[in-house]
Amino acid sequence: MVTATPDQTLEILHLEDSQADHELAARTLRRSGLQCQLHQVDTLSEFQRLTDSGAFDIILADYRLPGFTALDAWAHVAQKPQHPPFVLLSGAIGEAAAVDAMRLGVADYLLKDDIQRLPHVIARALEVHEARRMREHAMAELASSERRLAELAEHLQTSIEQERASIAREIHDDIGGALTAVRFDVAWIGRHSTDPAMQEHANSAADMLQHAIGASQRIMMNLRPPILEQGLVAAVQWLAAGFERRTGVPTRVQSSSDSIDTPADIQLVAYRTAQEALTNISKHAQPSKVDIELSDKEGVLTLEVADNGRGIAPEMRDKPKAFGLKGLQERARTVGGWLDISSRPGQGTSVILSIPLPSAPPTAPGDAT
Ligand SMILES: Nc1ncnc2c1ncn2[C@@H]1O[C@H](COP(=O)(O)OP(=O)(O)OP(=O)(O)O)[C@@H](O)[C@H]1O
Ligand SMILES: [Mg+2]
Repeated sequence: MVTATPDQTLEILHLEDSQADHELAARTLRRSGLQCQLHQVDTLSEFQRLTDSGAFDIILADYRLPGFTALDAWAHVAQKPQHPPFVLLSGAIGEAAAVDAMRLGVADYLLKDDIQRLPHVIARALEVHEARRMREHAMAELASSERRLAELAEHLQTSIEQERASIAREIHDDIGGALTAVRFDVAWIGRHSTDPAMQEHANSAADMLQHAIGASQRIMMNLRPPILEQGLVAAVQWLAAGFERRTGVPTRVQSSSDSIDTPADIQLVAYRTAQEALTNISKHAQPSKVDIELSDKEGVLTLEVADNGRGIAPEMRDKPKAFGLKGLQERARTVGGWLDISSRPGQGTSVILSIPLPSAPPTAPGDAT
């Protein structure tokens, strides 16, 4: 008894030119208790018409038919995205032909001499088909949820940058402006006062204000680096110099040219990548040197930050609460780029960002200087 679809009538398309063989198949299925409707067809054109319009649960096909073979019929069915399983039900066709058919994706092959096994073969083909369908469905769901997650991450990255830019603007306009104005006033009071104690207080207040102005500039710098206005190479050099000063690790920056012209969003992704890679080095690597390379050759911006430190232990790559490297992968994706991380324990780490650059407008011959 077939159990694959107990409450349902199976629609079976039977490609068979022998009436006797068709009736034998129908009898065998009836005897097994399978609820089914068997539709016989014996020409390729009719088979194509029926499979184009009708929804069949399974196809049984004799191998040799007048003027065509089951493989011609299979070729028509196989191109459909949701095709039913296709079982060869034939006289002996030889091992090579059977193997070829299976390799092409035919679900099973049953000799007519073994027709009593037909219900079992149908049940198994339907089971395998259903399992494959469920797997494909699960994979599609997974791909779509990964896509949604990547879109969310992209959105978050963009929102973070916008939020940072607006906080930087507020610090600049409200706090920075006010501090500078107060500092002028305090300096004025100091200059116009004849009382030495008053002058001393005014001077120390001016110093504190200078300190606060410096701090707010530093915060702005981290939120939205104005150094980027001087171009990516200058910005990366500035990051490297700060890193070297803080850590004492010699840090070399090499660039394919003195200035690399990139759209603002790509520039920011490269800058944040260099920043996080350097932060990671100072937190985790303990290297004796760092090399940074920038290039815009062959229409691709590449940034490589390499250290010769401890390397990333394999189990650390997917550390659950670490978002630096994962964030960089997502950031790279927002501008059509990707991130490669190569690392060997004890031999350092290299983080490489690659972003295809939008093609420059074509230069007329002779334009180059
Ligand atoms: N240059 C490096 N050298 C050695 N180990 C590194 C280096 N960069 C990253 N790692 C390892 O890879 C892990 C993941 O890095 P990631 O930047 O994602 O997270 P994190 O720095 O630990 O935390 P977060 O960046 O979220 O503050 C780190 O915890 C560290 O173990
Ligand atoms: Mg990190």
